[in-house]
Amino acid sequence: MKNPNLHQQVDSRRTFAIISHPDAGKTTITEQLLLFGGAIRQAGTVKGKKTGNFAKSDWMEIEKQRGISVTSSVMQFDYQDKRVNILDTPGHEDFSEDTYRTLMAVDSAVMVIDSAKGIEAQTKKLFQVVKKRGIPIFTFINKLDRDGREPLELLEELEDLLNIESYPMNWPIGMGKGMEGLYDIFNDRVELYRPENYDGERLVALDANGELPATHKLTENSVYHQVLEEVELLKEAGDEFDVDKITRGEQTPVFFGSALTNFGVQTFLETFLQFAPAPHSHPTVDGQEVSPYEEEFSGFVFKIQANMNPAHRDRIAFVRICSGTFERGMDVNLQRTGKKTKLSNVTQFMADARENIEEAVAGDIIGVYDTGTYQIGDTLTEGKLKVEYEELPSFTPELFMKVTAKNVMKQKSFHKGIYQLVQEGAIQLYKTYLADEYIIGAVGQLQFEVFQYRMLNEYNSEVIMTPMGNKIARWIDPEDLDERMSSSRNILAKDRFDQPLFLFENQFAERWFTEKYPEVKLKTLL
Ligand code: G4P
Repeated sequence: MKNPNLHQQVDSRRTFAIISHPDAGKTTITEQLLLFGGAIRQAGTVKGKKTGNFAKSDWMEIEKQRGISVTSSVMQFDYQDKRVNILDTPGHEDFSEDTYRTLMAVDSAVMVIDSAKGIEAQTKKLFQVVKKRGIPIFTFINKLDRDGREPLELLEELEDLLNIESYPMNWPIGMGKGMEGLYDIFNDRVELYRPENYDGERLVALDANGELPATHKLTENSVYHQVLEEVELLKEAGDEFDVDKITRGEQTPVFFGSALTNFGVQTFLETFLQFAPAPHSHPTVDGQEVSPYEEEFSGFVFKIQANMNPAHRDRIAFVRICSGTFERGMDVNLQRTGKKTKLSNVTQFMADARENIEEAVAGDIIGVYDTGTYQIGDTLTEGKLKVEYEELPSFTPELFMKVTAKNVMKQKSFHKGIYQLVQEGAIQLYKTYLADEYIIGAVGQLQFEVFQYRMLNEYNSEVIMTPMGNKIARWIDPEDLDERMSSSRNILAKDRFDQPLFLFENQFAERWFTEKYPEVKLKTLL
């Protein structure tokens, strides 16, 4: 047996991502979790990546957005007997494709909601992806130290807008200035909100009736009595706590708290680690599944990040391990090309850099040094294991630009830059069908700006971008293709896998097409 501890090591892994609308508190809660895990020593370490609310053409901010240092893309720490991997996701919605791919590499997700704002647009979008994957979703309703919306109203909104059952793990006793504590339904106790220098008991056990000892000061408080009534109501009318439903992503445990004042975060972490799943089998393209306990190593590339240093064009390919054990220097097969490659220069994301690098197992993320070998979605396997993991989702882009090199003498760096950025998943590339003109497609405008900036700064290639505006991209089967279908209202193009597609000017053009060619099926990506 290669690694006699594989089973136990895999079972201790908890790999998840935090999703939220910008400003709900993702960074703040991440920092608190890292503090508990001893991975950082003070708050403010992960910060400095203010996302989501910067001016569109602020280059420095774009740099920060795409360049959050490699180590903070995956944060690993040990807590109690678990090894926790938190995968960071970009805040700005123009980069949501990155987030979608990262969500393919996790076993569960935490959704952070601002208690004053409720479910916001981006949370809803990301939630749909997580739901589709059928992985468990845990909810943290944040900023309880501020006046927010009524807890019952928030739960109702969550159930209505997201169409998921909710189970409140705790219930706020007051909020804003009146925040007294949390009634911990799950652990039968009250967690008192007290200043940092308070040296009395913060966790008070409830009696058999679900109440605080009669002598407790809080029992004189009217908010407390209202909470008791609400909890009673929730117990009678609400859904039962159901681990199977949580595992299938059909019920979300809801925790209230305040990340900024570190209130309710530790209880959240401990309960989350108890119920969040360890890595399980991962689906392959041909409908099989590979067990994480399979001895041979396998994994897939879900993210490629360029080096922040423009003098080096090297990159880090982030690999989610799906089975077996990674060992430094091991030989693996890159399934796409059938070629062998050695995994020697590999970063692991240890809590404490001084620790000896340990081996990584299924559930962990490793960062493989890359000089242009890997593409998003690549599968790596060891030995005789021959599998290819499911493709990662691509969005159907809506914005398009024609792109050419300003200096015709510099075609080489132009091509190199484009291909590398496409491999990274930073942008999508198309060519016009006959003339092979380059068209790049994006989901958000910022992707173009980052593309242009990086072409110049990293590849020394000044590009001319001609906006084509919004287009509707629809793929067709190559057998259906007839070049005469192209007209003044659509552009016939091919994607980087040489698959044909039409870029329609608008919905009318698309409708006109489907009426003229009813037998041709038009397809989208995601
Ligand atoms: P994000 O990563 O989801 O975008 O959110 P982030 O953690 O950066 O938090 C957004 C803002 O909300 C920050 O304030 C942060 O301090 C605040 N915040 C987070 N959690 C809580 C909480 O529990 N209570 C309260 N009252 N505020 C919270 P900021 O002023 O935008 O940034 P900063 O300058 O204070 O860092």
